[in-house]
Amino acid sequence: MDALEKGVHVTEADPTDQSVGYGGLPDRDGRVTVDSCVMDEFGNCGAVMCLEHILHPVSVARLVMDLKFALSEGFEKINLLTPEAEKAWKNWLKTSKYDPMITVEHLEERNRKQKKQVPGQQDNHDTIGMLALDMNGNLSGACSTSGMAYKMAGRVGDSPIIGAGLFVDNEVGAATATGVGEEIVRICGTHTIVEMMRNGLSPEEACKKAVERIVKR
Ligand code: GLY
Repeated sequence: MDALEKGVHVTEADPTDQSVGYGGLPDRDGRVTVDSCVMDEFGNCGAVMCLEHILHPVSVARLVMDLKFALSEGFEKINLLTPEAEKAWKNWLKTSKYDPMITVEHLEERNRKQKKQVPGQQDNHDTIGMLALDMNGNLSGACSTSGMAYKMAGRVGDSPIIGAGLFVDNEVGAATATGVGEEIVRICGTHTIVEMMRNGLSPEEACKKAVERIVKR
């Protein structure tokens, strides 16, 4: 869990990543809100949603798991809206078109798009999900996001929801998700994947079947 927390911190603090933490694109009111969850080998879990001004929501989720809370624990309040994300949001406001889609074409073109990002262009989804297996064979997981760009204020996706954005079963395996949260929640995505693995599917087969279930829906 220590390694996961530090690992997720890297992406949460990266201003060039537009769907996690600092630099994440804001909701349609211009506010960057973040969701996160963690789960360990004992089934302990913690989640936070719609946090503002907190650089490392994954650490708050961990404190929630440990039954402590963010500001009383000394988390600093910071402005997550970078000048770049604010500029992109202002450009988006000109059309206010909210159309989150993830397509194969998008994934293929993603590198190119990221190199030449049009301000305000709605990038598709990222989210940081990380799983770890320690030296004793114990699993943990963490997930963190600023959610879909230009989401409705208060909208929460899959990332802070155990069984949707993250699920850990120390006897079987673990899964974490990225993509359009509304779709992942509908099939309890990561729990579904771990259950398929429990029934003998490989991780790759289980992920493929879960994605196929989303497509079918
Ligand atoms: N997968 C992150 C979200 O939809 O908010």
